[in-house]
Amino acid sequence: MTGFGKKLSINVTCLSRLVSFLPPVTPVLNSRCRYVSKAAVNTQADYDYDRPLMKTQVPGPRSKELTKQMGQIQNNTAINFFCNYEESRGNFLVDVDGNRMLDVYTQIASIPIGYNHPALLKVVSDPNNASAFVNRPALGILPPESFVDKLTEGLLTVAPKGLNRVQNMACGSCSNENAYKAMFIWYRNKERGTSIPSDADLSSCMINQLSILSFSGAFHGRTMGCLATTHSKPIHKLDVPSFDWPIAPFPRLQYPLDEHVRENAQEEARCLEETEDLIVKWRHKGMPVAGVVIEPIQAEGGDNHASAAFFISLRKIASKHGCAFHVDEVQTGGGATGRFWAHEHWGAEDPADIVSFSKKLLTGGFFYRDEMETDKPYRIFNTWMGDPSKNLLLAEVLNVIRQENLLAEVTRTGKALLGGLYELQAKYPNLLSRARGQGTFCAIDVCKASVRDKLILQARDNGVILGGCGDLSIRFRPALIFKEHHVHMFLNVFSDLLAAHK
Ligand SMILES: Cc1ncc(COP(=O)(O)O)c(C=O)c1O
Repeated sequence: MTGFGKKLSINVTCLSRLVSFLPPVTPVLNSRCRYVSKAAVNTQADYDYDRPLMKTQVPGPRSKELTKQMGQIQNNTAINFFCNYEESRGNFLVDVDGNRMLDVYTQIASIPIGYNHPALLKVVSDPNNASAFVNRPALGILPPESFVDKLTEGLLTVAPKGLNRVQNMACGSCSNENAYKAMFIWYRNKERGTSIPSDADLSSCMINQLSILSFSGAFHGRTMGCLATTHSKPIHKLDVPSFDWPIAPFPRLQYPLDEHVRENAQEEARCLEETEDLIVKWRHKGMPVAGVVIEPIQAEGGDNHASAAFFISLRKIASKHGCAFHVDEVQTGGGATGRFWAHEHWGAEDPADIVSFSKKLLTGGFFYRDEMETDKPYRIFNTWMGDPSKNLLLAEVLNVIRQENLLAEVTRTGKALLGGLYELQAKYPNLLSRARGQGTFCAIDVCKASVRDKLILQARDNGVILGGCGDLSIRFRPALIFKEHHVHMFLNVFSDLLAAHK
């Protein structure tokens, strides 16, 4: 048994340092604690820190020095600060200047159960696992003996409905890139009625054309194929040529969703109609849509939601026109919405043909239907095709999620978070609007981009790491171990900043 509240005695230097830690009680702000949790108990007290602790502004002097050195080696312009991962734990990220911050952004939504979780340290320190960490195989041709078992015990236990097969990959973009290829191959095989290409196929394949339909505001990655379906910010696409693929409008809904049902339904109907028109138009152009790709909540593009009815109708439109339906759960997958997959909220019988993942699952990849399997080697392929050590860690993450009932916890914590955001937007209507979320996958809009950016920096200097998305939004992407008392910690810092805002 692993999990929070159960001390582990493992003879690993860094682990013993972690477990022996007793945090100093130093409040970061002289906060009036307007948000106090009665129900929430800190069950992680034996390994998580109990509050932020700030020593310098962020980035501090050591971070600045390292960033300068980095600039002599590579582009350093996106670096926020340098981290001390040895000292980070639970919900708190420690930087190289000794600042300890409540992490509500978690490495762009990619830390499932916090920093240095004891259960994961145990996996790393188990001698039986050493080989998986030391020998990185070319998995597509030379997998280790245990790999089938590891996939069966890990990834396949969270396979979305109807998707029996899984292809592991390394990152989100290469998962999507290969999922697109799988859809193209499936589409052409379906068209020709066989997986054996004709001579004409072989001679025309250098120029033949199919397309993927994506949505305005979408983000599916930065490789060339993915980029053709990414439309969140110009900087991602600037100077990079792309395919002439159809881009449908993603619904622009009003929040809270349950107060704008009629207007939102009209907006969704408009988007569905345009989507179907585009599919027909591209077929007539001679570039049929092989697949439709969509995020269950558009994340990088600004946390844009749509209703279950919208996704279910879209899926039907895709099927009607013979297009595969690809749900990109790279950011939403892994539990943050309160379900393991965000698309589970749709309650659909047959939600998707392909579901891609990465981030909180630690390994990338995609689940897919039996009929989307390719029958030839090297069509969906690269050297590593993932990393077996990540599958070991993922299996343990899934154990912890189950043992700690973390999906229910996320739902509970998410209610406290969204409730707090509603309160703040009611109190500061000129500053905040459009609070929205599912589980802890929440966001709120700020009146101006400059104010949003300033609030994020100020929150960081006061011990809370937040992320931006879209033009005006702050997004909340805590780990699954983020509890109500962490919500209150964040709300106290944030409400003080809002109160002080001029
Ligand atoms: C929905 C979605 N798809 C794909 C990606 C690309 O993943 P990666 O950055 O691992 O390539 C991201 C990254 O943020 C994402 O949010």
